[in-house]
Amino acid sequence: MNIVILAAGPGKRMHSSTPKVLHRLAGRAMLAHVFDTAKQLSPKVICVVYGHGGELVRQAVEENGVVWVMQEPQLGTGHAVMQAAPHLDERWPTLVLYGDVPLIRAETLRQLVEAAGKGLGLLTATLESPTGYGRILRNGKKVVGIVEEKDASARQRALREINTGIVVAPTNKLKSWLAKLQNNNAQKEYYLTDIVSLAAKERVSVTAIQADASWEALGVNSRAELAELERIYQRRLAASLLEQGVALADPSRCDVRGSLACGRDVAVDVNCVFEGEVKLGDGVSVGANCVLKDVKVGAGTRIEPFCHLEDADIGADCRIGPYARIRPGTRTRLAEGVHIGNFVEVKASSIGAGSKANHLTYIGDSEVGRNVNVGAGTIVCNYDGANKHRTVIEDDVFIGSDTQLVAPVRVGRGATLGAGTTLTQDAPAGELTLSRVKQVSVPGWERPVKKK
Ligand code: UD1
Ligand code: CA
Repeated sequence: MNIVILAAGPGKRMHSSTPKVLHRLAGRAMLAHVFDTAKQLSPKVICVVYGHGGELVRQAVEENGVVWVMQEPQLGTGHAVMQAAPHLDERWPTLVLYGDVPLIRAETLRQLVEAAGKGLGLLTATLESPTGYGRILRNGKKVVGIVEEKDASARQRALREINTGIVVAPTNKLKSWLAKLQNNNAQKEYYLTDIVSLAAKERVSVTAIQADASWEALGVNSRAELAELERIYQRRLAASLLEQGVALADPSRCDVRGSLACGRDVAVDVNCVFEGEVKLGDGVSVGANCVLKDVKVGAGTRIEPFCHLEDADIGADCRIGPYARIRPGTRTRLAEGVHIGNFVEVKASSIGAGSKANHLTYIGDSEVGRNVNVGAGTIVCNYDGANKHRTVIEDDVFIGSDTQLVAPVRVGRGATLGAGTTLTQDAPAGELTLSRVKQVSVPGWERPVKKK
């Protein structure tokens, strides 16, 4: 089939300089969701009608083989499909989707196409509050037209069966109907919806079906509606995680903006946000208020509350946080049994099995071996103001508290660094290295007293 996605509207009611279809749902542009759904139907042609926001909209869907059609000016949904018409192959039917109806499921669209057969198919919904939508007009059971809210009589406005906007039609007929559209209506627009009465007049069959769930057909016109759809999306996702056996402390306080794959007996406390691609192994627990982006976590690892972890491979049986941060960039790799404690920041580093940095530490651009103990307040000075340098800390090193390692520097296997050391040269393996001013005590010294 051919698929046309309408995405040219400005979305005035969003009160935003971002084109409406680029507003994000679950971390991705609404248009990208619709596009993914369209692709599941393996269409021969996907045509996106864009206008408002031009290039930005094109960049949102980086995909080869899409036919981009500019609609300028924007004279209505019928006018939008007219712009796409030259690209639609008459051998197949054409399905029209909306860039601002992001939750529609491919399965529903398949049912619509099948139900329509060689006629016109409409996806409708019955809503408690139909305000704003086009209403479906029937003569007995037969669909005979659609009237827009702005053109409707009071009696028509009382109808609760609405047009979702999604239609499928034989392409040659669609083209002939489009050519007949007129704009003598309240909005002076060419309405796509007018093809329904044209079809009815030509005695082409018009079939209306409804989606299994009414949320599928909801459109986004305002921030409030976008927020509502976001919650619907997240609640469904949470329900499926619970179904798979993930212990979500509160399904209404878990947000996945990307993909979250979980092993068995994973527990996630409240207010966590998962972005990009996140994988949690068996028995992983994530404490409250964590943000994980593009992170893989090995089995049995515990992430305590308030951690912000990005671009990391975390091994099995690690203890992370509370209040730990792994910064984005070159992936950080933690082997098994690593402890990263509170107020510890790690960036572009690898840390070997069993090593610990439990308090107030910065480790950047470093390679840390196994069983290393990094004392409180240790800082790897990786940046000289112009360039970044690497630090190597070999296995079994003990670093005393409040140490600075001025990169590039290497600490040999089994070395000990005394507390307070500023390391500017390599520390030999197996020895104690320290840079420390000798301690003195001044006998008989007295504290100053305030002058009277
Ligand atoms: C449209 C339908 C209405 C339906 C509703 C469902 C028409 C005339 N009305 O109304 O029956 O109940 O959707 O949400 O079709 N667009 C363009 N170019 C344009 C105008 C719109 O590409 O010139 C795109 C928009 O980006 C949007 C979609 O078409 O994705 C719908 O446009 P919108 O202005 O929101 O239509 P509604 O008034 O909501
Ligand atoms: Ca709309």
